[in-house]
Amino acid sequence: MTVSNPEQQPAATCPFSGNTESLTRRHDRLLPTDDLTPKGTLIQAQSYADSRDLLKGDFAQAGFLARIASNTKGSVHPPVLYMQGEEHTEMRRATAKYFTPTAVNSYGPMIAELADDLIGQLVNKGEMNLDDLSLHLAVQVASNVVGLTSSRLPGMEKRIEAFVGGKLDGEPGVTQKVSPVRDAAMGGAVGLFFMLDVKPAIEARRKERQDDLISYLLDRDYSDQDILTECITYATAGMITTREFITLAAYQMLLKPELRADYVHGTEKERHAILHELLRLDPVVTMLYRRTDQDTDIGGQTFPAGTTFALNIQTANADPAIMGDDAEQVCPHRTLPRGVQPQGLAFGDGPHRCPGAFLAIKESDMFLRRLLLWNDLEIVNHPSVGYNEIVKGYELRGLRLRLGTRKEDR
Ligand code: HEM
Repeated sequence: MTVSNPEQQPAATCPFSGNTESLTRRHDRLLPTDDLTPKGTLIQAQSYADSRDLLKGDFAQAGFLARIASNTKGSVHPPVLYMQGEEHTEMRRATAKYFTPTAVNSYGPMIAELADDLIGQLVNKGEMNLDDLSLHLAVQVASNVVGLTSSRLPGMEKRIEAFVGGKLDGEPGVTQKVSPVRDAAMGGAVGLFFMLDVKPAIEARRKERQDDLISYLLDRDYSDQDILTECITYATAGMITTREFITLAAYQMLLKPELRADYVHGTEKERHAILHELLRLDPVVTMLYRRTDQDTDIGGQTFPAGTTFALNIQTANADPAIMGDDAEQVCPHRTLPRGVQPQGLAFGDGPHRCPGAFLAIKESDMFLRRLLLWNDLEIVNHPSVGYNEIVKGYELRGLRLRLGTRKEDR
């Protein structure tokens, strides 16, 4: 993990024309051109159009350690993230019911209770790290959808956090440093997650099915191993990402009082528009990867079968040709061309587009509104901004907030 201070970032370079309000821009990832350009063994896409075309096409997933993860010993079914073609389409169709607006709205009371409880903890303690609260919320909400609700011990969030703690790099082609200690730690984390969280959930649902993903996978005769890898996928794709976004959005709004006021007093639609805009400017997953299995024309060039593409989602989302000349500024309700989502490609696009997009925004909003409406909420410590190279995502750590009476005044 690298750590940088957002206030000390170098001046933006081409293709950026001015200062950016993004807090997480990776300047080391910028190329001096918008065209598809070789970068090491990869071809990097920078523009919105090229990235969207690559996401919408029938290309193989090449990120998130795809080669290692899709070859797990004992697995018959690859996790949804690595599936392709008809098998993938069918899986997405069958599991879409857990993520429809109606399903998500039905989780509303559960999310509200969790959010109130977390804010109650902050009031009681006086000070807490927001990234701890957001991890707890994101893990609890996604667990309910997945069916990880029968754990033998509390603390699932720490077990999940351990999956992305190793010093691996999700960029395809990068030689991973051999580390028996890391491998043992990772194996231990997976083993604990299986024994304490996944196995009890499977046993409970073998006795009685529920309306959740694990019950559905059991109906499809998934083995324990396959259910475990799918749960790990949801843990990293759904829980870790949402945690980071909640912390980022809270921090951006705490730094921008007018935006925070608009947010807190806005309708749900207006609030969601603000969250989408913040996610556009600071997409949690900064790079996505795809590999082509046949010769492919893209961006006016032809690439041979076997080419792997790195898609820079940060630059795609700040592409002035799509987002306008003020692409680097926070400007909710901007006018966008037809078919462009307000969050750009932050939830991906095409067949692998994030199924949890609506859930993520809904839960973030329910928590953030409850938190940010407190006038006496203060920043005690600004977060460090680092990057997790497994998921190519940013990590905001140590955003310490105070709410209510100062500790020393108690
Ligand atoms: C702010 C929060 C979130 C962000 C930024 C995010 C981002 C993404 C992105 C960019 C992808 C596409 C990956 C690719 O195309 O290579 C994706 C896929 C996925 N996301 Fe999310 N996600 C979030 C929340 C969630 C939630 C809450 C869930 C579920 C509980 C979820 C479950 C998934 C799954 C299962 C996939 C794989 C889909 C497939 O490959 O077909 N995500 N997410």
